[in-house]
Amino acid sequence: MSCFALIPAAGSGSRMGAATPKQYLDLLGKPLIWHTVRALAAVPEIERVCVVISPGDEWWDCYDWSEFPRLQVLRCGGATRAESVLNGLRVATVADDDWALVHDAARPCLEPEHVSAMIDELRDDAVGGILAVPVADTLKRAAVGDRIARTEPRDGLWQAQTPQMFRRGELIAALASFMGPDITDEASAIEKQGLAPQLVMGSPWNLKVTYPQDLRLAALILQGR
Ligand code: CTP
Ligand code: MG
Repeated sequence: MSCFALIPAAGSGSRMGAATPKQYLDLLGKPLIWHTVRALAAVPEIERVCVVISPGDEWWDCYDWSEFPRLQVLRCGGATRAESVLNGLRVATVADDDWALVHDAARPCLEPEHVSAMIDELRDDAVGGILAVPVADTLKRAAVGDRIARTEPRDGLWQAQTPQMFRRGELIAALASFMGPDITDEASAIEKQGLAPQLVMGSPWNLKVTYPQDLRLAALILQGR
């Protein structure tokens, strides 16, 4: 069994509202994505880390990545996250039955030990699975004028995170078949095939940096280690 990481990093970070895509914003003296790459490169079971950037990316080459010898940069990002992942999976020099661990560039606080535990739990699984955390907040369905229509039961609801771990060939087939606006993560494409990915307990520290406040939170989390 071989594992590789695929990091989609071809987004523009529109919700962050910065001039530079968020994966290149400064986080404790390094570009945010450096922390993401470092976390995955530190997982002993992961043999290769592939980063998918936009063909027009002007930032990646501004940094020295030579400290990560198992890194492969793929300049084939697409218009959506799912397209970037599919393009990257297709060109990565890995085998079809290798496990792909797809992880957002925008989650720099991932802990390598957590990824090893996930690989350990899923390595013999027939389908694969994702890191996720149970929903903690009370959920409200909004109606007209943002009036509450009802309270949704949160029992059994989980918030999906990454990494999401599936066989490379099976993930390519699923994404190619079901590509569309409702495919917002890898698991959703696999689910469309009638398969049930495993939920693996994640960590609230593994936040996705989306808004400016998240960047401050990520700095606090990393500083606290
Ligand atoms: N991503 C990608 N290709 C795209 C869009 C997103 O590789 N066309 C990547 C982002 O770089 C990020 C991850 O997918 O690492 C999760 O996406 P998100 O947090 O939504 O990032 P952005 O799309 O860049 O942000 P926004 O939606 O605010 O524009
Ligand atoms: Mg996005």
